[in-house]
Amino acid sequence: MDWQDEWWTSSLGRNGFWHREHPADHFRTSAGDAGDAAMTAEYLRALLSVLPEHLRHHSGAPGHGSPAGDPTRIAPTLVDLGAADGSLLRAAARARPGWALHGVDVRPAPADLPPTVHWHQHLWDVRTTGWTGPDGLPTNLLGPDGPDGPLLVVAHEWLDDLPCRVAQRTPTGWELLGPHGPTGWAPDPAEACWLEAWAGDARTVEVGLTRDRAWAAIAASLPPGSILVAIDYGHLRRDRPPEGALLGYRDGLLVDPVPDGRTNITAPVAVDALAAAVERVPGVRRLLVARQSTVMADLADTVPADPLPADRGAPLAALVGANRRRALADPGRLGANWWLVHAVGPTP
Ligand SMILES: C[S@@+](CC[C@H](N)C(=O)[O-])C[C@H]1O[C@@H](n2cnc3c(N)ncnc32)[C@H](O)[C@@H]1O
Repeated sequence: MDWQDEWWTSSLGRNGFWHREHPADHFRTSAGDAGDAAMTAEYLRALLSVLPEHLRHHSGAPGHGSPAGDPTRIAPTLVDLGAADGSLLRAAARARPGWALHGVDVRPAPADLPPTVHWHQHLWDVRTTGWTGPDGLPTNLLGPDGPDGPLLVVAHEWLDDLPCRVAQRTPTGWELLGPHGPTGWAPDPAEACWLEAWAGDARTVEVGLTRDRAWAAIAASLPPGSILVAIDYGHLRRDRPPEGALLGYRDGLLVDPVPDGRTNITAPVAVDALAAAVERVPGVRRLLVARQSTVMADLADTVPADPLPADRGAPLAALVGANRRRALADPGRLGANWWLVHAVGPTP
């Protein structure tokens, strides 16, 4: 089997990593650390502050591009893709008590979710480019079968976990790799086309097509007025890692990517390819593509650090918040993540 098939089986197959391991035992993220609610609250604060700024900037006359006539208004229905332990949704329930909140994950609902949170145990299948429900049947989760109205869809460190092919240059073209080395198989025509456009000078490349297709298909399924936010670590064509960047995490440590079901296998996202794919969907327009460090710096310049309702009047919380903002902005760590924010029609 090649990498995509082995990765799929070891992470999402019957005894795969996501079915038997707890994400928090293996890694921490800006959004999803149950042990650091202050970090998640700051990440959410950044998100909810940045979006109105960019909606205002990119919208035309008032009345366009928004759910209710105000161009800066964000749809009050948040969908967290890859919601894991529900940390982001818990923070959102505190900060925006009136919002409808939806978590989507292949994992079952975490215990003690706030009552405003609806959980959808669904799988994104990279082999069919669609959602399947717990019964294994396809669903139109973010379309007609899903939550009503325009949606704010967030995927934080989700796309990097979608299995993809890995290809290596040979003197005669590209060859797919598997965990045990070259497979002798050539990429299919769409994968070859992707490599031609996006591989840059790299010799070994994770083919981003499964991520591009996922994000474009999700964008295409959303009602007008929706906003898509993908936040992930990644690279651009000019700085693709020359030998690829397939990684493994186990027990908090970076390890070789072994498809054993005990190791979280992940690969950074090809950010420019992903943006191009979603921007080819009719009606989708770019609001922001930038590193998190830049987003946080711009935010510090333009938006006062107004506490979320839950923190108001708590000086210690304000101090902790400032500390977490610095961590989120650190360009050497969390700040290196990319933010890709897109709006779904109507075009102003
Ligand atoms: C790296 S964790 C990120 C969790 C959280 N968003 C955060 O930033 O901390 C990825 C989450 O996506 C879920 N996931 C991975 N692949 C999936 C798929 N194909 N379909 C549905 N959920 C998936 C995993 O179960 C896991 O909870």
